[in-house]
Amino acid sequence: MKPFPQAFLWGGAIAANQVEGAYQEGGKGLSTSDVQPKGIFGDVVERVPGDSGIKDIAIDFYHRYPEDIALFNEMGFTCLRVSVAWTRIFPQGDETQPNEAGLAFYDKLFDELASHNIQPMVTLSHYEMPWGLVNNYGGWGDRRVIGFFERYARTVFTRYKEKVKLWLTFNEINMSLHAPLTGVGLKAPGSEAEIYQAIHHQLVASALAVKACHDIIPDARIGNMLLGGLMYPLTCKPDDVLETMQQNRTWLFFGDIQCRGEYPGYMLRYFRDNHIQLNITEEDRAALKETIDFISFSYYMTGCVTTDEEENQKARGNILSMVPNPHLKSSEWGWQIDPVGLRILLNLLWDRYQKPLFIVENGLGAKDKIEADGSINDTYRISYLNDHLVQVGEAIEDGVQVLGYTCWGPIDLVSASKAEMSKRYGFIYVDRDDDGNGTLERRRKASFNWYKEVIATRGASLKP
Ligand code: BG6
Repeated sequence: MKPFPQAFLWGGAIAANQVEGAYQEGGKGLSTSDVQPKGIFGDVVERVPGDSGIKDIAIDFYHRYPEDIALFNEMGFTCLRVSVAWTRIFPQGDETQPNEAGLAFYDKLFDELASHNIQPMVTLSHYEMPWGLVNNYGGWGDRRVIGFFERYARTVFTRYKEKVKLWLTFNEINMSLHAPLTGVGLKAPGSEAEIYQAIHHQLVASALAVKACHDIIPDARIGNMLLGGLMYPLTCKPDDVLETMQQNRTWLFFGDIQCRGEYPGYMLRYFRDNHIQLNITEEDRAALKETIDFISFSYYMTGCVTTDEEENQKARGNILSMVPNPHLKSSEWGWQIDPVGLRILLNLLWDRYQKPLFIVENGLGAKDKIEADGSINDTYRISYLNDHLVQVGEAIEDGVQVLGYTCWGPIDLVSASKAEMSKRYGFIYVDRDDDGNGTLERRRKASFNWYKEVIATRGASLKP
């Protein structure tokens, strides 16, 4: 392989609620993640003293981050994507003053990264928000939450302006349509209009955060974060192709607003046709004009779309109800593996927006086995990542501007959808099972040295 550009950033991505644990330490408040111990599609559980959930400790990154960052450094990371837990900074969400202990924790984390020359990329809200804002305001359904988020964003930009130059607003903002509690803090959305109104507030908040970042840290770059849910038509029937275009627009519309500063015509038509009347003020319209500097996205799989009711019926209940592609194999969790789709998606986003792109999540969730000699030979993970990175290289050759690649879960962590430890993504194994048993000891897998070599050669060691 031709080496990737010199400035290309290499690393991994983690999220506070899936690694930190310490869910009540340092004055942290409860978040939506803390009350969903079984993951983003699980039930809400009222927390009572003495109860526990897997994420309460997670992989104890809150206490073990120096050890973990030393391992990332050993692999040669130049970038680590992390998130700030909003509830460490504003425990209930509506305080006027931030929690100093929470701010101090991230100071230490960013200093540790700096000591290894690893650039932090920080997501402001990765699948969590203060539970206080859900209970007392109804989450993003209430316009006042925009102001609380802006205060939080300005607080962290001001505090970390010398330490963090890469920012993201909301993780997988388009998932709000599928997981409204995690996405927009709606406990029981009554209607589609309610979800879109909450999303609108979040999009305005995202744009205000972009503006704040530009004002406070002029030399920083701030991006959005989309779940890159690329869909293909199941057949070449024009109706299938049209339906696929509509399906892709259900997630692209977030990018359209964040890159272009206004609602696209097809969404206005959708709202008209479905009698959805959003409350959009003149101030909102002005705020949306502040657009992002780059686009970031996660990429795990693709799916197919058809108008054939029988095929759709079979697909109900799959993740995002995608019809399976007969040409692709699936992971143990049924996620279809499609490296070429990553090249297609990179080209599609580049052609559509002409803004730099950053792949901030990609990886294989799989069960790992420890051999008698203590080794973990995760060849399946190596081949998944190799094949995807080869396609990133192809996209770069196509002329797409790609800033970097942070694979998901460089160290095993708690999965988002079902809060499982057994769905492992890491180059580093963590001794903990789905019931919370284990020593939390870290161990290098075979993929650890493989990724180290890929980074050291800037991708030249990849196998096309
Ligand atoms: C993305 C999320 O959806 O996918 C991550 O941003 C998540 O938080 C990742 O962990 C993989 O999903 P899962 O359910 O396998 O953890």
